[in-house]
Amino acid sequence: MSQINKIGVIGAGNMGSGIAQKMAQEGLNVVVVDIKEEFVERGLNTIKQLLQEGVDRKIFSPQQVEDTLSRIKGSTDFAAVADADLVVEAVFEDKKVKADLFKNLDRICSDKTILATNTSSFYVREFAEQISRPDRFVGLHYFFHPAKNRLLEVIPHEGTSMDTLEKSLLVAKLHGKTAIVVKDAPGFAVNRFFVPFLNEAARMLEEDLANIATIEAAAKQAFKIPMGPFELMNVTGIPIAVHASTTLGNELGPFYATADILKAQMDKNENWNLEGEVDESRIPAAVDRFYGVCFGVAAALVDEGVASIEDTDRGAKIGLRWIMGPFEIMNRIGVDKTYAAVEAITKKYPDFKMPEILTRQNALGQPFDFKFVDLEIKDRIATITLNRPEAMNALNEAVVAQLDERFTEAENHPDVKAIVFQGAGKAFVAGADIRYFVKKIKADQISDIYEFTRRGHELFLRIENCAKLTIAILDGLSMGGGSELALACQAIVATHAGSMGFPETGIGIFPGLGGMLRTARIAGLELAKYYVFTGITVSAQDAFELGIVTKLVEPADVGSAIRELAAQGKPEKYRARDVPGKFKPYAQCCSEENVARLLSGQPPEGVSEEIAAKTAKIIGFKAPVALKLANEIIDQQVGKSMQEAVEIELERLNDIFSTADALEGLSSLGRKRPEFKGT
Ligand SMILES: NC(=O)c1ccc[n+]([C@@H]2O[C@H](COP(=O)([O-])OP(=O)(O)OC[C@H]3O[C@@H](n4cnc5c(N)ncnc54)[C@H](O)[C@@H]3O)[C@@H](O)[C@H]2O)c1
Repeated sequence: MSQINKIGVIGAGNMGSGIAQKMAQEGLNVVVVDIKEEFVERGLNTIKQLLQEGVDRKIFSPQQVEDTLSRIKGSTDFAAVADADLVVEAVFEDKKVKADLFKNLDRICSDKTILATNTSSFYVREFAEQISRPDRFVGLHYFFHPAKNRLLEVIPHEGTSMDTLEKSLLVAKLHGKTAIVVKDAPGFAVNRFFVPFLNEAARMLEEDLANIATIEAAAKQAFKIPMGPFELMNVTGIPIAVHASTTLGNELGPFYATADILKAQMDKNENWNLEGEVDESRIPAAVDRFYGVCFGVAAALVDEGVASIEDTDRGAKIGLRWIMGPFEIMNRIGVDKTYAAVEAITKKYPDFKMPEILTRQNALGQPFDFKFVDLEIKDRIATITLNRPEAMNALNEAVVAQLDERFTEAENHPDVKAIVFQGAGKAFVAGADIRYFVKKIKADQISDIYEFTRRGHELFLRIENCAKLTIAILDGLSMGGGSELALACQAIVATHAGSMGFPETGIGIFPGLGGMLRTARIAGLELAKYYVFTGITVSAQDAFELGIVTKLVEPADVGSAIRELAAQGKPEKYRARDVPGKFKPYAQCCSEENVARLLSGQPPEGVSEEIAAKTAKIIGFKAPVALKLANEIIDQQVGKSMQEAVEIELERLNDIFSTADALEGLSSLGRKRPEFKGT
C-alpha cells in the first residue's frame, strides 16, 4: 500500500486496544504503545480474547486471527511509532497527559506523520495549537466498542490541512469505518444530543415527572431502542455521563449542565435501580420531553454547522444503533409536533433557543429533505457518492432521483472530464430497497415499480453512453441494482474488497437493470446465465479476469487508477473476449443443453461431479419462474441494440412482479428461506 503503511495507537486500554484490533483485522499494520509493559500485554490479551471469541462464533477463521495478530506489535517505546503515517492517541481523558504526549510525539515522529486525538470532551484545536504541525492534526472520535461500532467522527480543526483530512478519511475507509466529518465543537455531533438525552432522563426523575421504569419505557417507545437511558448509564458507567454533561454544561450553558440527581448517584457509587411499575399515563409527557431535548439539540448542532442533518442521523443510527435518526423521527412525527416539543423546552430552559432550521421548516410545513447523493468536483473529476451507508447505499426512488440530478449536473459541467461513482462506507451499493417492492406489490401498484425501473434504465444508459468517462469504484460489496450500476459505467476500478452478485432469482425476481445484458456482453451468455441463476458472488479478482473490472488496485491506489483512466480515455467495454480457462466449467454448466437440464431440476453434464452437484443444488433453491424468464430474456437480448434489449427486460417486469413467488421471495429476505411454488 503506497500511502498508509503503519499506524501507531497510543494507549492500550479499552479504546486503544479496540482501535488497534479493528485496524489489524482490516489489514493495516499497527504498533500499540503504552507506558508499562503490563498495560501493553493487557491490551494485547484483550485483543486475543476478542478475536478468539470471534473464532468461537465463526466470525473469523483461525488463520484470519493469526494474520490479524501478526499485524499488531506492542511496545513501551514511543520511538516505535516515529515512522507511522498516522498516530491515534487513546490515553486517559486528561488534558495535561494528552498535551504532553502530543508534544513528545511531535518531537519524535517524522514530518509525514499525522497525529490524531480520540478525546471525547476537549477541543481538538487545544492540542493542535501546542505542537509544530497543527496542519497534520485531527480528531478521530471512535465509539465503544471500536472494533465493532462502525461510526467514526472525523474532526478537523480550523488549521487541519485538506491533505490530512483526506488521509484521515482514507484510513477510516481502510479499516471499515463509516466516517462523518464534524466540526470541532463540544460533544462533536453524537454526544451533543446523546448526553442531554441521558441528562434529561435524570432531570425528569428529579422532578418526579415519572419513575425510572416509566422513563425507560418512554425512551424505548420514543426512539425504538432496546435500552433506556438509565440502563445505558448502568452499562457504560454513570461517571462518564456526569463527566460528559459537565463538559457540555461548562461550554454551552445551564441547559446542558449535569442534573444534581445524576451527580448524587455517581457519589453514591451505585447503579440506577431499574425496577418499578410503569405508569402508562406519564409516558406521553416523558416522550415529549425526550423529543424536545433531542430534536432541539440535533437541530441546534446543524444550525451551528457542526454536522449535516444526514450525518447527525447517521451518527444516531450507526453510532448509537437507533433505528431512525433524530431528523427521520422528526419527519415521522411531523414538523409541527416537533416544533411544539422543542418550544416547550425553550420555555422550560430559557438559555436554550429555538434553532432556526426548525423555525424555517415549521413555516414551510414540510418534512426535512435528505441528501443521499453527494457531488464533488475536483481536478476535473466529478465524484458522485451514494451516501446512505446505514442502508448499504441501497437504491430507492429518492436515491435514484438524486443520482440522476447529480449525474446531470456533472455531465453538464464544462470542466468535468470524468464522472466517478462511489458508495460511502463499506459497501458500494447493495441493490434496490426490497421493502419498496414489497410495499408496491401489496398495494397493487406494480406500475410504480415499472416506472422506477424504467427511470433507472434510462439513467444507466445515459451513464453508459455519456460523452465523459464514467467510472465505478467497486471497493466494497455490491449486489443486484448496485452491481448493475457498476456494470453500466464505462469502466470499473475495483479493490480486492469489491464484489458483485445477482441474488434476484433467489428472491423470486430477475436482475432488472441491465445486469443480465451487460454481463452477457462482457463475459458471454453462458456465464451471465450462470451468475444470474446461481447468485454466486463474483469477486473483484474474478470480475477482473473476466474483463468486467477494468483495473484492480490496492485501496490507496484508487485515486491514481482513476487519473490514469481519465488520461487514457474510454476503454473498449464490449470488445470480444475469450472465456478464461478457469471459468470454462461454469460456462459449460449453462450451455444450451445444460440450461434445459438445470431448469428441469437435473445436474449439468460435461463438468466435474462436484461442480454439477453444487450448481444443481444452488439452483434448486431459486424461484422457477424467475429462472425461466431470466433465461428467455438473456436469449432474446442477443444481437439486439442496448435500447431494444432493455425494452425486452422491461416487458417482462410486470410478469415477474405479479408472481406469488416474487412476493414470497421479497418478503422472506433476511427472515427465512423462501418457499417457492413456481407460480
Ligand atoms: N470508553 C469510551 O467509550 C470512549 C469513547 C470514545 C472516546 N474515548 C476516549 O478514549 C480515550 C481512552 O479511553 P479508554 O476508555 O480507552 O481509557 P482506558 O483507561 O481504558 O485506557 C487508557 C490507556 O492509556 C494508557 N496511558 C495513559 N497515559 C499514557 C501515556 N502518556 N502514554 C501511553 N499510554 C498512556 C493507560 O495506561 C491505559 O492503558 C479517552 O480520551 C476517552 O475519552 C472513550
